[in-house]
Amino acid sequence: MESIQILDAKKHVGETVQIGAWVANKRSSGKIAFLQLRDGTAYFQGIVVKNEVGEEVFQLAKNLNQETAVLVTGEIREDSRSKFGYEIGISGIEVVGESHEYPITPKEHGTDFLMDHRHLWLRSSKQHAIMQIRNEVIRATYEFFNNNGFIKIDPPILTGSAPEGTTDLFETNYFDQKAYLSQSGQLYMEAAAMAFGKVFSFGPTFRAEKSKTRRHLIEFWMIEPEMAFMHQEESLEVQEQYVAFLVQSVLDNCDYALDVLGRDRAILEKYTKLPFPRISYDDAVELLQKNGFEDIQWGDDFGSPHETFIANSFDQPVFILNYPKAIKPFYMKSHPTRDDVVICADMIAPEGYGEIIGGSERATDYEFLLEQIRNHGLDENEYSWYLDLRKYGSVPHTGFGLGLERTVTWLSGIEHVREAIPFPRLLNRIYP
Ligand code: 4AD
Ligand code: MG
Repeated sequence: MESIQILDAKKHVGETVQIGAWVANKRSSGKIAFLQLRDGTAYFQGIVVKNEVGEEVFQLAKNLNQETAVLVTGEIREDSRSKFGYEIGISGIEVVGESHEYPITPKEHGTDFLMDHRHLWLRSSKQHAIMQIRNEVIRATYEFFNNNGFIKIDPPILTGSAPEGTTDLFETNYFDQKAYLSQSGQLYMEAAAMAFGKVFSFGPTFRAEKSKTRRHLIEFWMIEPEMAFMHQEESLEVQEQYVAFLVQSVLDNCDYALDVLGRDRAILEKYTKLPFPRISYDDAVELLQKNGFEDIQWGDDFGSPHETFIANSFDQPVFILNYPKAIKPFYMKSHPTRDDVVICADMIAPEGYGEIIGGSERATDYEFLLEQIRNHGLDENEYSWYLDLRKYGSVPHTGFGLGLERTVTWLSGIEHVREAIPFPRLLNRIYP
């Protein structure tokens, strides 16, 4: 008898198979028991009929506790009434691991309780669906960049540099030196672009941000492409193609997860149409001021209500272009005709999900960068390798960073970024 994963049920209809699974829930009447099972690949129903299996197996089935691990044997059948579409008519059950008083019951639990039990909460069907979408976004990222001539390069996690400002660094001892956990691989990716042309990274990044919002994690994963001989306008095209490709891939490959999450496909379809709208920072400020946001002045950074209002003025992701120099990092290229803004863009997701991409064209001039490093109070010795990139064949180049968890939150249509990563690190949480 073959052991299968229920995901492959289609290929085994009418066959008797064995499946390793956990009991998610159960109900029974006098003669029949319905087990809600999950085997890691999907949630499905197992049916135990007393007359077919006999008293002993039936009693065992009826008394299985939630999250008991079992090996079930039985015949795969089509089941048009369930979301999943297949069930197993059980003929035998072997208990592999007992479970007593599983803390997460089918009743409602508060968020703190669920977060304290994240190691178990991951077993629920909603969390399973979100992780399927996360996996698809990662898979599609590799497909997109590999198909477009990019090579994957891994920047270090322990670094001496602070590309995104010195206020939210995690500092650690590095023998007799100081090191920081990476905020962004960007500076290393710039070196890689000068070596390999078009590159992308995918890795964890860390920000000791004192933000307690539904968009902020302390540890999050970022995809950072960097492209040599490329100006900002071409980078925006890569960005919108990439994001539209992610949306399409989720639509194509995450049917079951979208059903579980109740995500409206017609809404997602809109995000596959190119181009995405663009608005300048200047015009965005004006738009906000005209619509009753009296608090915002030219020069301010946007907060989440501002981003949401701008996003709601369009029905696709929108690029906000060319922010004030004073609120952006040291490495961005100045605008050719204006001294007060830089060549950069943030991509704001629709539906109030906020910024999912930050990117810019990079400064190429050695003297300018050196001055910027000094003006930002950074230690120029730590950046001499970075300055070398402007000494030996400096070329126009541009890149961006897409936040994985914010993107997954948006595509899944869920409330909070903490559910888009298996084990979230938040302002007040490092357990479990
Ligand atoms: O806008 P950010 O800070 O840009 C950079 O780090 C650049 N060095 C990227 C580059 O050009 N290579 O961050 C990029 C993205 C944001 O748009 C957001 O999606 C995500 O990273 N992000 C966060 N996600 C979750 N929690 C946080 N605290 C985040 N901070 C940024
Ligand atoms: Mg940003």
